[in-house]
Amino acid sequence: MSLQGKHIVLGITGSIAAYKSAHLIRLLIKKGAEVQIVITPAGKEFITPVTLSALSDRPVISEFFTSGDGTWHSHVDLGLWADLMIIAPATAATIGKMANGIADNMLITSYLSMKAPVFVAPAMDLDMYRHISTQRNIEKLKNDGAWIIDATEGELASHLEGKGRMEEPENIVAILEQFFSTRNNLLNKKIMITAGPTYERIDPVRFIGNFSSGKMGFALAEECSSRGAEVFLITGPTVLSVSHPNITRVNVESAVEMHDAAFNIFPQVDAAIFSAAVADYRPEKMSEEKIKRSEKEKFSLTLTSNPDIAASLGKIKEPYQLTIGFALETNNEEFNAIKKMEEKNFDFIVLNSLNDQGAGFGHDTNKVTILSRDGKKQSFSLKSKSEVAKDIIDTIFETTEARNKKLEV
Ligand code: CTP
Repeated sequence: MSLQGKHIVLGITGSIAAYKSAHLIRLLIKKGAEVQIVITPAGKEFITPVTLSALSDRPVISEFFTSGDGTWHSHVDLGLWADLMIIAPATAATIGKMANGIADNMLITSYLSMKAPVFVAPAMDLDMYRHISTQRNIEKLKNDGAWIIDATEGELASHLEGKGRMEEPENIVAILEQFFSTRNNLLNKKIMITAGPTYERIDPVRFIGNFSSGKMGFALAEECSSRGAEVFLITGPTVLSVSHPNITRVNVESAVEMHDAAFNIFPQVDAAIFSAAVADYRPEKMSEEKIKRSEKEKFSLTLTSNPDIAASLGKIKEPYQLTIGFALETNNEEFNAIKKMEEKNFDFIVLNSLNDQGAGFGHDTNKVTILSRDGKKQSFSLKSKSEVAKDIIDTIFETTEARNKKLEV
């Protein structure tokens, strides 16, 4: 992999870890990137612009105007020039300013004008990192679409030791290379994703629902769209929001509504991922009025079965269309998952076991095994749902690539 010809804006802030930036610049340039440094006033206390411009072979930008002739530095042009911006090291102060749009230096104005993806490698002491205010700002940046490069990310350590330390330059470069290599590997693909719970109305104020948060489906939608796909996200009621412009969100409430939306969209897509927790049954009749408490000791509702969205689309799917299902099992997990994959005509099924701590409904983490129709099996460790989404899409992509290559030979 390389970074040949990539335009990278490297933002440097006032942290002791700024010494690592020198090494980072060398590595980026060795990989073929062009690097433009933007440094904050505090950053210059830790590493000199002379060193940085010598290493990057470009003048360092730090003020709004050059001191000699008063020429204005255009952060707008920089935002258009860049293929990627990375702030490494990023202090708590800079993260806070980025999260709140406080544009009092060139680095923040460049960030606000940036048209390219932004990566942030935090560097600060553990107490500052742990502080609720820093955590809130980091969350805000993530929601704004930035990627946070955390030294311990991936291991999901329950303790925070090592957190706040800036990631090593070698690892940062590997992450950026990986990013560019997967970035457009779903370009021109259309993908439908079902997500969240369904609500089946009993009367105007009550429903039958489930604890699905929609997090896994939303993470998959973000991952697919960040790789260039056009995503149709059909979601049941959830508090989540989407950030990527390539995601078309279709809000539904019940299984029947989800089924109808999915049937409309499915014929135009290359792949469909069924991550919704669809209610198997709904009340046979919804009461128009609020059901009153009665004197009777017992009360019963008659339920009628809902359409199985995945199974019915599995019947009409074309050979070029891929479908991926989810199975949440408590016993005979693999056996049941494989059975489901065959019954619903999935190409892959993602199994998560309710026996695993931290996996499944409501959690931010998940632990999955991916089974494929051609008998392959891959198990992953407990990870954040966005990491799991990456693994799922990588696995599907690699398997189908390998299969297509075999077909071509
Ligand atoms: N699914 C669906 N429509 C339904 C039920 C399920 O599209 N009415 C999809 C889910 O999104 C998931 C897969 O089918 O990808 C398996 O869902 P699950 O609820 O585990 O399977 P069921 O067939 O309902 O089996 P059971 O609840 O008996 O385990």
